[in-house]
Amino acid sequence: MKAAYIEKPGLPENIIYGDLPKPEPAEDQVLVKVGAVAVNPVDTYVRSGSIPWDLPKPFIVGCDLAGTVEAVGPGVTRFQPGDRVWGSNQGLLGRQGTFSEYAAVDQCWLYPTPANTSDQEAAAIALVGITAYLGLVRHAQLEAGQTLFVHGGSGGVGSCVVQMAKALGARVITTAGSDKKMEICRRLGADAVINYKVEQVRQAIRKLAPDGVNVWWETLREQDFDLIVENLTLRGRIIVMAGRDARPPFPVGPFYVKDCSMHGFAMFNAPAHEQQRAADAINQWLADGKLRAQIDRVMPLAETAAAHRLQEENTLGGAGSLAGKIVLVP
Ligand SMILES: NC(=O)c1ccc[n+]([C@@H]2O[C@H](COP(=O)([O-])OP(=O)(O)OC[C@H]3O[C@@H](n4cnc5c(N)ncnc54)[C@H](OP(=O)(O)O)[C@@H]3O)[C@@H](O)[C@H]2O)c1
Repeated sequence: MKAAYIEKPGLPENIIYGDLPKPEPAEDQVLVKVGAVAVNPVDTYVRSGSIPWDLPKPFIVGCDLAGTVEAVGPGVTRFQPGDRVWGSNQGLLGRQGTFSEYAAVDQCWLYPTPANTSDQEAAAIALVGITAYLGLVRHAQLEAGQTLFVHGGSGGVGSCVVQMAKALGARVITTAGSDKKMEICRRLGADAVINYKVEQVRQAIRKLAPDGVNVWWETLREQDFDLIVENLTLRGRIIVMAGRDARPPFPVGPFYVKDCSMHGFAMFNAPAHEQQRAADAINQWLADGKLRAQIDRVMPLAETAAAHRLQEENTLGGAGSLAGKIVLVP
């Protein structure tokens, strides 16, 4: 089968697009004929070696996938050949990745794909959707009527946070770096969008939420905690989930006197039953038309190295050339 893989961590050019043996599903595994995969920033950290996990050799890159069940191991109870499935959390913690024509995945990391959702949409929503759900529901405990702020409402995580927060009944304020991206945020349901390249974010938030926001979801890799804490309400919650190397100053006094809390998490630490709960909610929202994948572009799997370069230019280089997910098709 064709696969995008590396023999050793390094630059995007280390990604080889070539032939590897088609995997056999083990006892509890499902063999998925992959219809689509999606790139996440973490794929590039694993590929570059900046997250030093022990990787299978060769290591197929990527976390997300959607496709059709081709075969199942003898212990598989939840799926049968022909079922459409999506999943994430592969290619992490030493597991084999998904950027290949076939992937053997433990059944606990797969979910049925709703009939109204394409493989491309399901792959694009996988990791970012699970992340958004875990942060909003498990950590921030966002309630209807509360106000949430998220940086980057047209991005992978941000677009899911905006839509899910709306589905949960919250008021949503977000940012975008162009008129086109502002329009995307509005289409996703944001109540207010700040163009951070034109407006002063501090002043704009103060005007939009004079009493502060209940939840501040920080997607930036370099956090400004003075800005964040001064814009939180009493008992405000901060979600941090980006910037492994970040060591910013923190305003302890202003934080604790407002009874605030901060929740950090990495989605791959969540056990299968917690990710399953997230996937169930995602599937319901997809089926109800309350959640849509924000796809920037679709590329052939053979162009995985170019897709990694593009993702890296945005995540590390701040290029601003993406509005959502890069999806690839075998
Ligand atoms: N902890 C976890 O479990 C977890 C899970 C998923 C992702 N992450 C991390 O979360 C981060 C975001 O991931 P993603 O997949 O959403 O990336 P993405 O799709 O590339 O989105 C990044 C967003 O950040 C915005 N942005 C960049 N610089 C900005 C600035 N200076 N001010 C305001 N907005 C800015 C961009 O907005 P514009 O395009 O409008 O400039 C874009 O919407 C990454 O660092 C990733 O590693 C962590």
